[in-house]
Amino acid sequence: MSRYKIAPSILAADYANFEKELKRLEETGVDYVHIDVMDGHFVPNISFGADVVASMRPHSKLVFDCHLMVSNPENHIDTFARAGADILTIHAEATVHIHGALQKIKAAGMKAGVVINPGTPLATIEHVLNLADQVLIMTVNPGFGGQAYIPEMADKIANLVALREAKGLSFDIEVDGGIDDQTIYSAKAAGANVFVAGSYLFKGDLQARVDSLKAALHD
Ligand code: DX5
Ligand code: ZN
Repeated sequence: MSRYKIAPSILAADYANFEKELKRLEETGVDYVHIDVMDGHFVPNISFGADVVASMRPHSKLVFDCHLMVSNPENHIDTFARAGADILTIHAEATVHIHGALQKIKAAGMKAGVVINPGTPLATIEHVLNLADQVLIMTVNPGFGGQAYIPEMADKIANLVALREAKGLSFDIEVDGGIDDQTIYSAKAAGANVFVAGSYLFKGDLQARVDSLKAALHD
């Protein structure tokens, strides 16, 4: 499998037809399904919770990449493990116990991801990077799909690549927000290898748009 991965965000899919949407995603040859969980507190918007993830689980073999935009994510780790999450990514800003929460995710049998908002410095997560299987750099402010990619995040990604090298670690670097067939080049050049895309993929011909992202990654 390629080291590059595409993670379509079902936040932009048809909520009344998740089963159909999951099937059609699987047919396009993507790697992950990115599932955005929002609590109306950490972010202004409310999306869906663990019960929805559990109901989707029997309908897909893809990796469930769950992005929790919720306050105190440590309270929801076991619930998401039971629901069938494969990767659980939590915001450093959402808990005062990020280290313990990442340990708890791994102990629950999932891959651990840590994510920071555009305004949060990398130093916030420097001392937990050894616990992370994936680090997500937000390229928009979380809460809504369809926002514009923030180009300044390319520097943050490049700095994270340097930090990973200095520490001898091997976590994946994911980007999320405003990714399309143009902005993906900036994130890729900076060193990201997992690319979330919501509106770009679902607001057009899904297969053609997946193929366009894949083509950009192999340019
Ligand atoms: C934003 C979410 C994203 C969102 C991306 O809070 O974390 O995953 O679905 O959507 P697009 O690709 O439309 O920016
Ligand atoms: Zn997301």
